[in-house]
Amino acid sequence: MVNSTKNDKRITLAWSGASGAPYGIRLLECLLAADYEVYLLISSAARVVLATEHGLKLPSGPDAAKEALTKHLTVSTDKLNVCGKEDWFSPVASGSAAPKQMVVCPCSAGSLAAIAHGMSDNLAERAADVVLKERGQLLLVVRETPFSTLHLENMLKLSKMGVTIMPAAPGFYHQPQTIEDLVDFMVARILDHLGVEQGLVPRWGYDQRP
Ligand SMILES: Cc1cc2nc3c(=O)[nH]c(=O)nc-3n(C[C@H](O)[C@H](O)[C@H](O)COP(=O)(O)O)c2cc1C
Repeated sequence: MVNSTKNDKRITLAWSGASGAPYGIRLLECLLAADYEVYLLISSAARVVLATEHGLKLPSGPDAAKEALTKHLTVSTDKLNVCGKEDWFSPVASGSAAPKQMVVCPCSAGSLAAIAHGMSDNLAERAADVVLKERGQLLLVVRETPFSTLHLENMLKLSKMGVTIMPAAPGFYHQPQTIEDLVDFMVARILDHLGVEQGLVPRWGYDQRP
């Protein structure tokens, strides 16, 4: 991509309406703390999930949403760009300017289907389509249970195109004591795949032996 270099610290993060809002919030905090410029896309359903699961009511306008996030998060939001759902002039909407990495976290079955079929009906879908066509890194933290054949087919289709399908399925071998520990398990794996340094969870090794 034209505006991206190998060490480009710019990333697109989409929150869709799957359960798992705490994953999205924690991932955003970690990316900002790692000094990434984050383009944040929030679906209407994601706002409902955020209010339901996290008690965070985000206003619909991008500026007001950024203000609310600035109050809520524990890190600086100087490098946070909240984008409107149809902000087609956002850098993420074009291969000439988009970050080469994108994460959808959490990713609903609906967003999964739209991305698998190149719908590009809103900015998040378009941004994913751009990353696919530019052969960047796309990571979907899909959350649904059980998966239907349709979900599985959509995931397989994207996986064959190089997309990382990372179901929101935390492990228990690090003996989590709190919900935050479970959230950190998933976020640590996501950050690893993105190449972002993290020390959220002890790494697998001999120390884990009972
Ligand atoms: C509280 C809540 C939890 C939901 N959990 C899930 C879920 O885990 N997985 C999923 O695929 N959809 C879930 N949904 C339904 C999606 O939000 C819905 O299908 C929506 O249209 C997805 O749109 P989006 O992908 O544009 O955000 C949930 C909805 C709500 C309100």
